[in-house]
Amino acid sequence: MSNNREQWSSKASFILAAAGSAVGLGNIWKFPYIAGENGGAAFLFIYLICIILVGLPILNIEILLGRATQKNPVGAFKTLTDKPFWKYVGALGVFASFTILSFYSIVGGWSVAYTLEALKGTFSSFGTPQIAADFFNLKNSNPMWVIGYHTAFFLLIVGIILSGVRQGLEKASKFLMPLLFGILMILVVQGLMLPGADRGISFLFNPDWSKINPQTFLLALGHAFFTLSLGMGAMMTYGSYLSEKDDVVNASYMVAFLDTVIAILAGVAIFTVVFSSGYDPTAGPGLVFHVLPPLLAQLSGGYIFALLFFLLLTIAAVTSAISILEVSVAYLVDELNYSRKKATLTMGILVYCAAIPCALSFNVWSDVTLLGTGLTFFDMADFLASNVLLPLGGFFLAIFAGYVWGIDEVVRNLLIGDSGSVYFGNSILRKSLSFKSIFGFLIRYLSPILIFLVFLYQFGWI
Ligand code: TRP
Repeated sequence: MSNNREQWSSKASFILAAAGSAVGLGNIWKFPYIAGENGGAAFLFIYLICIILVGLPILNIEILLGRATQKNPVGAFKTLTDKPFWKYVGALGVFASFTILSFYSIVGGWSVAYTLEALKGTFSSFGTPQIAADFFNLKNSNPMWVIGYHTAFFLLIVGIILSGVRQGLEKASKFLMPLLFGILMILVVQGLMLPGADRGISFLFNPDWSKINPQTFLLALGHAFFTLSLGMGAMMTYGSYLSEKDDVVNASYMVAFLDTVIAILAGVAIFTVVFSSGYDPTAGPGLVFHVLPPLLAQLSGGYIFALLFFLLLTIAAVTSAISILEVSVAYLVDELNYSRKKATLTMGILVYCAAIPCALSFNVWSDVTLLGTGLTFFDMADFLASNVLLPLGGFFLAIFAGYVWGIDEVVRNLLIGDSGSVYFGNSILRKSLSFKSIFGFLIRYLSPILIFLVFLYQFGWI
């Protein structure tokens, strides 16, 4: 263990940074449109089950593996086992960080672009979502526009990572997360005051069970991994900057809780506006970029609401993207002894270039699809990450914790750093037999089996 490895200045800082990682485009861009296309409340219900039964245990495991080894994913597995196989599971995480960031930073770039457009007042001239959609498509048809904003977004995250764990990651989250929450609350309140807001609320909270099918589970589980930043070592890497004194169980509850609450609030902010204007919630990935700008701009005070919304989206994207890149950076620092600066610049340039094909998916390469799937580079990166790499990573994490490291060792480690607080995770509860058997059951059986079934279904094998 290197002595000069940086650590968070407190457990609260870790929670903010980890919540910053979790709360991202997944909450504000993806969750509302997936819920919109899959029956609203019915999807929300299944999604909550996935978070509690699969997401939360794996979140604990990831943070714990990081804290116990003080290493990046490859180093963490190397520290705990001699079997070379696990090193490759860690490497899969580093690969996933490339894949995710390559499409994530394109959407991050759009967010930056739209913040500037909102500032210019562009949206006030859009009469309908169709005009907004045409504007979006026109902008994206210019590769230099997409690449330009992708570059701006990338410079932002590389700048933060270069400044280090405390001065960069921690400071950014401490400043940006409260801002994000404040902006979101303003948007929620204004949404609730709109006439017809109750239709949006009932869409989000009154389930239509007929909308549920196996596909819903697939999406909900995939999204649970994505939204909690699981399955590729991001939480492990953030956990590696925790000290042994810090309580993992409580921190995991807090992170999962904040992430879920913020996704639901984002749903409220968006669906109240969409329904009160009589629009369709099933607009898909364009919901936030096509449907919302004209609707927001037409409200009284719309200029400021549109600006706040895209600022919110940008903040969420930045605090998440830094956690994705940090995995690869920590890998170079720990395993190849790179300085943070050299590691950040190396990975920054590599991932930046890996994202270019995704940027071209909307213009010059819009006809290029991969391996007969009909998916462009952008769609493929999203699919590969959310539906393959993250669940696969989660599956192996559960197997590792449940069978290789062992539940006894997991629970022993979970007890270290117990703050003894009165939350669910306190030591009496954690020492109890039922905690161990429930946790053991979730990690050894339920999580891997569910993930496995989802896989079989996804590839049409069941
Ligand atoms: N959780 C983030 C979101 O909801 C995205 C993210 C950040 C992520 N780090 C990750 C997803 C690691 C998977 C793995 O937008």
